[in-house]
Amino acid sequence: ALVTSKEMLTKARKGGYAVGAFNAENMEMVKAIITAAEELKAPVMIQTTPSTVKYGTSATYAAIVKAEAEKASVPVCMHLDHGSSYELAEECIGNGYTSVMIDGSKEDFENNIAVSKKVVEMAHAKGIPVEAELGKVGGKEDDLVAEADTNTDVNEAVEFVERTGVDSLAIAIGTAHGFYVGTPVLDKERLSEIAKVVSIPLVLHGASGISDEDVADCVSRGISKVNFATELRVAYTDACKKLYVEKPETFDPKAYGKVGMAAVKKLVMNRMRVCGCDGKA
Ligand code: 13P
Ligand code: ZN
Ligand code: NA
Repeated sequence: ALVTSKEMLTKARKGGYAVGAFNAENMEMVKAIITAAEELKAPVMIQTTPSTVKYGTSATYAAIVKAEAEKASVPVCMHLDHGSSYELAEECIGNGYTSVMIDGSKEDFENNIAVSKKVVEMAHAKGIPVEAELGKVGGKEDDLVAEADTNTDVNEAVEFVERTGVDSLAIAIGTAHGFYVGTPVLDKERLSEIAKVVSIPLVLHGASGISDEDVADCVSRGISKVNFATELRVAYTDACKKLYVEKPETFDPKAYGKVGMAAVKKLVMNRMRVCGCDGKA
């Protein structure tokens, strides 16, 4: 069933596990992610970034996820990842997204609060929960190589949550989008400190390139949602490339879709087990 992120993330926070949030680019990735969730009886979030929305439109992605979610027995949430404006958040909600992120992390503290609060007021009036970001996760969406940026301040996190009324908070503790140039240095102590004083679900971005052990450790310290994007794109595309190399005569897009789906499903199932959300639907 298609649901909002509110209940699944609140339950995850209380239960000490995390919901996996997976970025999808096409129908095949949506199907692979939902099939993985069904097999593991896991709640799941599917998300699209602004560049993905620009590529396929929010109405199209929402329709695909809605059709697949309605067939599923597990709770499925459709989320706007790194929402870049109030207008885009409003558009996605209008087209059926059941959760949105407003990413004001490029703004200064006061302007991040202002834009996040404005989106919260609009979204809550329509029953849709909001994720915001404080501190800067390194790298740029859609880049393959990233460096870490500015970590979240503990006291600012408390004030930010109080003043905005957001439902979940993405924090920066040294992760970055894309794969890593060197070994990522995670400030796990900072995560534990934030989790002590902030009671809403906390979100870890940039999980591609973070080991299963480190993801599990962050979850045990209070992360309730983990975002995976780049590694799904790589798994999907590598499987298609392999088919092309092994059987270059293949011309049916369905044949590429099938191997891509299988690779994404396998990866997603592994990461769901790492997050501890299997069996939690
Ligand atoms: P990765 O691409 O590093 O998995 O980051 C995912 C993410 O944070 C999406 O918002
Ligand atoms: Zn992110
Ligand atoms: Na990453």
